[in-house]
Amino acid sequence: MRFDILSLFPSLFDSVFSESIVKRAREHGLVDIRVHNTRDYAHDKHHVTDDMPYGGGGGMVMKVEPIVLALEDVVGRPLPEGLEDGAPIVALMTPGGEVFDQRMAREFEQAGHVVLVCGRYEGVDERVSALGITREVSIGDYVLSGGEIPAMVIVEAVTRLVPGVLGDMRAVVEDSHSSGLLEYPQYTRPAEFRGLVVPEVLLSGDHARIARWRRERALERTAQRRPDMLDRASLSRIDRLFLSEAGLLGTEDDEQ
Ligand code: 6GU
Repeated sequence: MRFDILSLFPSLFDSVFSESIVKRAREHGLVDIRVHNTRDYAHDKHHVTDDMPYGGGGGMVMKVEPIVLALEDVVGRPLPEGLEDGAPIVALMTPGGEVFDQRMAREFEQAGHVVLVCGRYEGVDERVSALGITREVSIGDYVLSGGEIPAMVIVEAVTRLVPGVLGDMRAVVEDSHSSGLLEYPQYTRPAEFRGLVVPEVLLSGDHARIARWRRERALERTAQRRPDMLDRASLSRIDRLFLSEAGLLGTEDDEQ
């Protein structure tokens, strides 16, 4: 899996990509992450990467040329032709984009090569999108000052999906957003802490009962916290019976 990131603040990525899972994935050659400084592609004397918006208004707009030159360098071909057929996904990080989710993370992992263009919040010259962007991506409905943290989020979410990165854990830990349900609660020692005890079933050694208990807690949590996810989850007849008996099957009235 290869990532190229275009940013005016490349050092922001240092710590996040040098620790934990992403660090190990890089060391094992499972992911190749290259961070490029967009300023290196601004060829005027002062390496200017932004300018005032045509038509007036506040803020500054990122210039088209440095980003397009950087993209052409990464893709190795002129744009827009360089983005035909087997080319990478080139995603512009922008609050106006399609909201990133686990499904998009899987799609990016399948593509094998993703270029993440970090814009600043005020905006990027629209011609960047016309020439060199295949996706516009947001990480949610709130405002950040730039696309760097969204790019970190995407690299982390996609890296976890690369075969070999999580080793055995992947088979054991069914992650919430692929099962379509939130996680069941977890406990580790001690069995009692300040009067709070671990549910008895988890100490029972009865694996069938434990599995059923976990499934029910996951169903309960999802129904209470994310009823929208329940609509899309694949539920068995037993799951539906449980939810219905617990009064957790949303009615039209509940959902609004
Ligand atoms: Cl991708 N960029 C900015 N600036 N703000 C965001 C975002 C992206 N996603 C959510 N908020």
